[in-house]
Amino acid sequence: MKNIIFLAPPNGGKGTLSEMLVSKYGYGHISTGDLLRDEINAGTKLGKEVEGIMKSGKLVTDDIILKLIANRITKPDCENGYILDGFPRTKVQAEKYDELLESMGRDLGVVIYIKIEKEAALQRSISRITCPKCKRIYNKVSSEMKPKVEWICDDCGSELIQRADDQEETFIKRFDEYMEKTMPLFDYYQSKGVLKTINSHTSKYDTFDEAVKVLEEN
Ligand code: AP5
Ligand code: MG
Repeated sequence: MKNIIFLAPPNGGKGTLSEMLVSKYGYGHISTGDLLRDEINAGTKLGKEVEGIMKSGKLVTDDIILKLIANRITKPDCENGYILDGFPRTKVQAEKYDELLESMGRDLGVVIYIKIEKEAALQRSISRITCPKCKRIYNKVSSEMKPKVEWICDDCGSELIQRADDQEETFIKRFDEYMEKTMPLFDYYQSKGVLKTINSHTSKYDTFDEAVKVLEEN
């Protein structure tokens, strides 16, 4: 199984697609956003350091992220392949990740760019709700992504929440950060010949089908 890197704007559907691919193929799932939110919820020193940055829509420093990743990819669930959902997000992160892979003798895998318009991503942001415990992602206005019982997680029964950064103003900051710092990775990975593009459709199943096709062909 090839490792996957998702490259997509905020609310592009990285987490949703990860959930679906993990259940089909059994990948390890690494969401740097979830790792950081866990630190915030646990009230750790790191959590206190990143909380304000994340609320403002800015990126956390490369050093913090690289330490988290170096530790996380050595866990047993990553042995047979993993999905990077939210990493790398800067040129420095991408270059350091290449060095890390080289030192471990591992391949980069495939980079899947998820194409979505800014306005569509914004609409998804303001209607997203998530489970703080099992991390499942829902959408209040989508018939296929609503929880069965309002504000209750179908899987673990926890009360659903709206993420602190799912406000229009913060979404716009996150999107700007993405365009400035993450979008240059499109060319970076294209020049390595590992980049594939899929479209984010209005149904998550259509997006999933496109991703499966890419994976089965590569
Ligand atoms: P992170 O948690 O990674 O947020 P993000 O990249 O902004 O992405 P999101 O989680 O918001 O969206 P998503 O693409 O996962 O979409 P989702 O599937 O939920 O990062 C948060 C913050 O952490 C950053 O701002 C930064 O501060 C920090 N950080 C994290 N990584 C970092 C790094 N490497 N470097 C520095 N800082 C870092 O879907 C969104 C909604 O759309 C949901 O409601 C879903 O139900 C719906 N939806 C999904 N797919 C579809 C579909 N096909 N059709 C219709 N609706 C859909
Ligand atoms: Mg996500």
